[in-house]
Amino acid sequence: MKTDSLSIIILAAGKGTRMHSDLPKVMHTLAGRPLLAHVIETAQQMHPLDITVVIGHGGDQVTAAFSEHDIKWVQQKQQLGTGHAVQQAIDTVKGDQVLVLYGDVPLILVETLNSLIAEKGDNKLAILSVDLANPRGYGRIVRARDGVVEKIVEQKDASAEELTITEGNTGILVANRDSLAGWLSSLDNNNKQGEYYLTDCVAACVAEGQPVNAKMTGNEAEVLGVNDKVQLHTLERFYQQSQAQQLLKQGVTLLDANRFDNRGNLECGKDVSIDINCLFEGNVTIGDNVEIGPNCSIKNAHIGKGTKILANCVIEASKVGRDCMIGPFARLRPGADLREGAKAGNFVEIKKSIIGKGSKVNHLTYIGDTEMGENVNIGAGTITCNYDGVNKHKTVMGDNVFIGSNSALIAPVTINDGATIGAGSTINKDATADKLTLERSKQITINAWQRPKKK
Ligand code: UD1
Ligand code: CA
Repeated sequence: MKTDSLSIIILAAGKGTRMHSDLPKVMHTLAGRPLLAHVIETAQQMHPLDITVVIGHGGDQVTAAFSEHDIKWVQQKQQLGTGHAVQQAIDTVKGDQVLVLYGDVPLILVETLNSLIAEKGDNKLAILSVDLANPRGYGRIVRARDGVVEKIVEQKDASAEELTITEGNTGILVANRDSLAGWLSSLDNNNKQGEYYLTDCVAACVAEGQPVNAKMTGNEAEVLGVNDKVQLHTLERFYQQSQAQQLLKQGVTLLDANRFDNRGNLECGKDVSIDINCLFEGNVTIGDNVEIGPNCSIKNAHIGKGTKILANCVIEASKVGRDCMIGPFARLRPGADLREGAKAGNFVEIKKSIIGKGSKVNHLTYIGDTEMGENVNIGAGTITCNYDGVNKHKTVMGDNVFIGSNSALIAPVTINDGATIGAGSTINKDATADKLTLERSKQITINAWQRPKKK
């Protein structure tokens, strides 16, 4: 089958009562992204002619979240069943073939869908099934003695004998559009749930004398749906486990695969080691020989080769060069740019600043809107006062600058190459190169003074 004739319909109208939430079910997140985002991404990877999403409960919230995607939205005002839902969308699709996916089945793989389409071949309908240890709640695939698929029967409508069938319906199917439209228009709701069942299309196809192929997936997790927070949690853990396994196979050391979370795209070089409880979000790239200590949160960042990130660091939208040392307890905020061999130690916050090659900000310091040269040493308790209450201003430091402890640098201000600032200074004028500048009252001793005594 040519994929250029494929259309995809995603069902997402359900309320998700069992989530006990005001958020529409498909907006709940897995690995930091809405369930529906996962399904749409998979659908896009199939390169279909069009993607139609059937929405109902909280539809406005759903469409708003995906306004940048090229998607057709169809409202199903009343949830009268899966067959009714597909019927609402069938006239909007352009492809000869229709693939039906579910907004609450987020982990379905492109390869599985491709093999389902291949399984269908020139037939009118193919369904994806799964062998289940506990098939309760699923529609069952009823086959004749010779194995030919006859129909799907829903749990609530099934006979005692049918309930012993362990081959469950995943719900995912691919069909010829025109055939599907015909079957849908002849559906009735004469069943226990009073719904128009999409699954009745199987018997309708068989009644036309056409075979229905059922492709069984061996991977149960990829077809699991989310109906409540327990299932959402199960899928989240499954997803994170498989991310961790992939990294381990690539040679990344994870001290505990059960305490690792990746909610974005993480790329690691060789001999990378990641300690427990680390969280990665957005696009993170990590160079060779990087060590990341426990409890770090890293989002949209690049970490250069050979860098060590010690425990409890928070890094966001930052660049860290090679052979740097970060933490423990350091916070790199957006725009932090640490060059080769730089250090940011404990209780150091850096925002929108260049920390030059070999420069050290080792303790208890805020550096913001700063351009720092090479081999600078920042004493403990230094603050760049970058904000006057209205505007942000820049601090510029040359190379080989030394800032004494507990200094306040009031921006805009320039500390020229080789300048030294005496500890405890409040600096609001530029400091001359290679000189000592300080601002401090003179130390005196009062000889006549005595400590008060208790009466
Ligand atoms: C459905 C299948 C069942 C299968 C199971 C797999 C039917 C009749 N049954 O049952 O064979 O084993 O999925 O999980 O299809 N939806 C709408 N509009 C509606 C009804 C449902 O958009 O009017 C959407 C829901 O949001 C959900 C999906 O369709 O994403 C499935 O609906 P649900 O009610 O959960 O179907 P099941 O009863 O689980
Ligand atoms: Ca149901």
